[in-house]
Parts: sequence; structure tokens; C-alpha cells
Amino acid sequence: MNNAELKEGFAKAFGDGGDIRGYFAPGRVNLIGEHIDYNGGHVFPCALNTGNYAVVRLRDDHKLRFFSANYSRLGILEGSLDELVKKNESWTNYVKGVIFAMREKGYTIDRGFDCYIYGNIPGSGLSSSAAMEVVIGTMIKDFFGLDVSPIDIALFGQRAENGFIGMNCGIMDQFASAMGKTGKAIFLDTATLEYEYVPLELEGCKIVVANSNKPHSLVSSHYNERRQECERALSDLQKVVDIKALCELTPERFEEVKSAISDPVCLARAKHAVYEEDRTKKAVAALRENDLVTFGRLLNESGDSLRYDYDATCPEIDALVEEARKQKGVYGSRETGGGWGGNTVSIVKEDCIADFRKSVSKAYTERTGLSCSIYELETGEGGRRIF
Ligand code: GLA
Repeated sequence: MNNAELKEGFAKAFGDGGDIRGYFAPGRVNLIGEHIDYNGGHVFPCALNTGNYAVVRLRDDHKLRFFSANYSRLGILEGSLDELVKKNESWTNYVKGVIFAMREKGYTIDRGFDCYIYGNIPGSGLSSSAAMEVVIGTMIKDFFGLDVSPIDIALFGQRAENGFIGMNCGIMDQFASAMGKTGKAIFLDTATLEYEYVPLELEGCKIVVANSNKPHSLVSSHYNERRQECERALSDLQKVVDIKALCELTPERFEEVKSAISDPVCLARAKHAVYEEDRTKKAVAALRENDLVTFGRLLNESGDSLRYDYDATCPEIDALVEEARKQKGVYGSRETGGGWGGNTVSIVKEDCIADFRKSVSKAYTERTGLSCSIYELETGEGGRRIF
């Protein structure tokens, strides 16, 4: 949808006139550094050129009115600033969660709004919820004239997830959505929020995203369970080493002290975190040197660790990764994002992409009965006002 279509959509839902503004925030894909943004590790995501659009007009009362072009059959959904309650599975929870998080920090949000949303992130698993939080945070900052930075907006989004939605996620998705840059990935230290932009120039190759189209239910319960397992491993380790987070350990140090972790499951989760941190730093160094063989190998190792040590994949994703790795011109392939479904990322030689698409799609359908969607990654800019 272009700006004119967005404005028209808003006018149809809520009527024309007044100060109507438009905003956008992107989804994200993570290249490497999985499940370590809550273990004090480094991650390496980039923002997509697809995301969520919000067209908004403030109201003179406390009502919140929502219309999603993607769920138009639901019509207008209503809420109130005076009653920020979570409704089962509703996308409006993300909007309310951001208001909750901003108010918690002492910001005054005292006028309701009419809000028209349109999202174009393909499939699930590319952080449409973070894109929703960031687009709403960006809108509230602008309309209410708040002195908050894009990083603050990312933190409000994370707080909305942790404190309102009940998903104990890290900061990666919201950070990528708020801070993304076209043509760049973000090398982010989640312990300090220091970051660097790294150009995504892969000589002769492209990053290919494949959506398994496997609906990933129960993600947040599995996810929260993984997070607890990491916390248990950390508290065992803290009896023998002075650390605040798992990713402070090098693999060598981890091998020396790992016997302090009593539960074998927690040990495997901690191993993933420690080695993933090491792989992520090495992968970024390899990419900077255009060493795609090493970069791809590290992606494969990350994927295997997610599968075997972190137990965060599913048969459909395993099939997609296995088929991708069999193809000519593939340097590496792995699951990306929260896990248990969603998407894979692969590094593929440009002249092999057409065959990759055909062969992977065919084999995936034969093995799983599902069809996947495969496309080249296109990066984009972080959250902003568009009109
Ligand atoms: C989800 C969470 C992120 C991150 C990833 C896994 O996307 O929202 O914070 O933990 O999973 O890397």
C-alpha cells in the first residue's frame, strides 16, 4: 500500500479530516546470534523492507479504536486508555502493551486514538509483533512530543512483551526494528546495547529467506522455558565463577567450569549460549573479510546447535535446512528467530538461486506436505514517520 492508499484506508474506517499521520516500522531477520539476547550475548540481525504501517489520529477522549487492513472482517475493535487489558491473541495487545510500558516510565498518554494498521511482513516469525510495538512507540513519541530515542522505543517494546504480553524475549527484535539500516546488519552487544552497523555485501551471494509456513504455536511457552533453563544453568555456574550472564564465558572457560551445572538439559542450553556467542563474533569477523566459507560454516554450526543442544527447531524446519544444505552454491543454512517453526536463512551463490528455489520447494513439500515461500532478503530502514 502506498501513502495515498493508507490514508484512504484510514478515512474509510474512521472518517477523514484532522491531523492524520502515518508511520512505519520493519520486521527483522537474524543472521546469527540466536537465543543469546537474554544471555548477555551479541546478535546480528537486520531490518527488512517490509513491516507494519500505522495511520493514526488522536481523539479528544480516552477511547482506542483499531482497524487492521489484514483482518478487516473483524471491523473496528475498541479499547480504552482507562482499561489496558490483554485480550486473547488480539494484535491490539501489542499496542496496549506499549502504552503500558511508556506509562510505567512516567510518560503521560492522555488522549485516545483511532489507529489503522496494515502489515506486509510475509508469513510468521519475522517479528511482526516487534514491528507493531516499534511503530506504535514511534507514533506516540511523535504525537505526544516525548523526548525518547529509538533505543528507548525498542526498550518499551521489549517491556510490553515481558510485562504485558508475557513473552520474556530479549531486545534483539525491537532493536532491529527501531534501529535498522538499509544494506546493513546490526552487530549488537545485548549486555551494553553498544552496536555497530556492518555492510551486508556478500560477493556473488545473496541471503535467502525461506518461510516454512509451519504455524508455530506454543512458541512463547517453549521460549520462556528455555530462558528459565539458561537462568538455572547460570545460577549453578555462579557458585564457581563470577559472571552475570552465560555469554561472558569463553568456550574454554565454560569447559573448565561446566560440571557445576547439575541438570544435563540446562547444561546443553548453556553450551549453546556460550558457543553461539563465540560463533557470532567469529561470523561477523568473517563477513567483514568477505570469507563466506567461514561465515556459512558458522551459520551451519549455529543451526545444528539450535537443533541438538537448544532443541528449538521442529521436523519441518529440519527438513528445510537439510534440503537447503544439499544444494549447489549454498554456504550455510539454519533456522532463524524465535524457533519451533518460522524461517530459515541461507547464503546462496547468486547464479544458483533459481535452482535452489525449485529443488528446495519440491523436496520440502515431498517431505512435509507443506509449501514453503522462498525469497531474497531485502533490508530496510528502522521505525519512522512516513507522512
Ligand atoms: C525471539 C525473541 C528475541 C530472540 C529470538 C531468538 O525472536 O523475541 O528476543 O531471543 O527469539 O534469538
